[in-house]
Amino acid sequence: MKIMIVGGGGREHAIAWAVAKSPKCDKLYAAPGNAGIAELAECVDISVMDAPALVAFAKEKEVDFVIVAPDDPLAAGVADAFLDEGIKTFGPRKNAAIIEASKAFSKDLMKKYDIPSAAYETFEDADAAIAYLETQEAPYVLKADGLALGKGVLICQTLDEAKAGIQEIMVDKKFGDAGNKVVIEEFMTGREVSVLCFSDGKTILPMTSAQDHKRAGDGDTGLNTGGMGTFSPSPFYTDEVAKFCEENVYQRTIDAMASEGRPFKGVLFCGLMLTPKGPRVLEFNARFGDPEAQVVIPRLKNDIVEVMEACADGTLDQISLEFEDNAAVCVMLASDGYPVSYKKGFEIKGLENFKDKEGYYVFHSGTKFADKEDGSDDSKVVVTNGGRVLGVTALGNTLVEARANAYEATKLIDFDNKYMRNDIGKAIDEK
Ligand code: AMP
Ligand code: GLY
Repeated sequence: MKIMIVGGGGREHAIAWAVAKSPKCDKLYAAPGNAGIAELAECVDISVMDAPALVAFAKEKEVDFVIVAPDDPLAAGVADAFLDEGIKTFGPRKNAAIIEASKAFSKDLMKKYDIPSAAYETFEDADAAIAYLETQEAPYVLKADGLALGKGVLICQTLDEAKAGIQEIMVDKKFGDAGNKVVIEEFMTGREVSVLCFSDGKTILPMTSAQDHKRAGDGDTGLNTGGMGTFSPSPFYTDEVAKFCEENVYQRTIDAMASEGRPFKGVLFCGLMLTPKGPRVLEFNARFGDPEAQVVIPRLKNDIVEVMEACADGTLDQISLEFEDNAAVCVMLASDGYPVSYKKGFEIKGLENFKDKEGYYVFHSGTKFADKEDGSDDSKVVVTNGGRVLGVTALGNTLVEARANAYEATKLIDFDNKYMRNDIGKAIDEK
C-alpha cells in the first residue's frame, strides 16, 4: 500500500517509524516531513495546511491511505479534503476535531454528557468575564477558546493578574481569534496523565498511559512549551483510575460525539488530572500528543497501519491493542532560548550512533538538511531548524532504567546551544 503522512515533527517521525515497519507499507510519503523522516519516507515540500496541493499530490501518486497527524490541519478540515475525494484517511473530520479546536465546545459537551471535568463558565465579552472573576477565588484558570500552540491557558494567582489575562486574550488578541471566547475554569490540583485512544467513531481503545513535562525548566519552572519530555507508562494511572476513566470518560465521549452527529475517528487524546475527588478531564486533543507519541508508539506491539485502517473503516472492534511490558522515556533536546527566541542552523553531530541501536530512537522535531559549511563534498549535514530539535527515546525494563538509558543516550548527540531538562521522569521515583 502507498501511505502518506501529513506533518513534519517528532510525532510524525514516530508514526513514520511504525508505519515503515508495517508489512502493509510498500511506499511512504511525508508532507513536509523532516530530515529524520526522510530516512523512512519520500518527503515532499507541501504545507500541512495546503489541502488542495496535498490532495493533488496524493492523487498523482495514487496514495491508498493518508494519516493527518497535527492539530491545525485537522481543525481546518484537511482530513475532510481527502475523505471527500474518496481517499481512505486516518484523522477526524473538522466537525469532530472541534473537540480540541474549541475549548467551549468540549466543555459544553462534557457538561451535557456528564463527563467529569472542572466547573466553568464561557464568556464572549471581556467586561462580563471580569465581573465573573470578581465573584471567584484565586487561583483563576483562563483558557482561550481556540488553538494557541498549547499556550492559551493562563493560571493566575491574583485577581489583577487574571484581569490582565482577560485583557491579553480578549482585547489585545494575543492568540488572535482563538481569544474571541474565553473559558474560566475551576482550579484543580493533582497528577496529570495523558491517555491516547484509538477510535473508529463507535469503539474506543485506550493506549498505554504517558506523562508530559510542559514547562521549559527543571522542577516545572519557566514557560509552557510544546513538551520537553515524556515517560510511559504513568505509575499514577492505576487499574482503579483506568476503570473509572473507561466507565466515565472514554466511551462516553465517543458516544457523545456520535450523538452530536460528529463521529470521532482517529486518536482522541484525553488529558486527565487525578484530583482528590477522582480523575477529571483537563482537555481533549484530536491527535497523538507530541512528545507522547514518541514514548507510546515504540511500545505498541500491533501493526499500526492495521489499527489506523480499522479506525478509518469502522472495524476497531476486531482489534485488540497490545503494548510491550516495558517502559519508555523521551528527553527533548531543544535550542537554548526556546520557547521564546533561539538560533537555528547548527550542525547536529552523533546521529549515526543511533543506527540499529536497539531500544533507542531519535525522533526529529525541528531539523533539516543543509550543505556542509566547508563545501568539502556533496553530502548534506543535518542542522537544527526549530526550538524543539529532536527527542531521544530509550526503552528499559522499568521507568527508572528507561530514564537512565535516555539520559545516557542524550550524550551521544551534540549541537551548539543544545538544551534539555534534567528531570524528565523524575516524578516516577516517588511511586
Ligand atoms: P490544557 O491545554 O487545557 O491541558 O491546559 C494546559 C495546562 O494547564 C494543563 O496541562 C494543566 O497543567 C493546567 N491546567 C489546565 N486546566 C487546569 C485546571 N482547571 N486546574 C489546574 N490546572 C489546569
Ligand atoms: N504534549 C502535549 C500535546 O501534544 O498537546
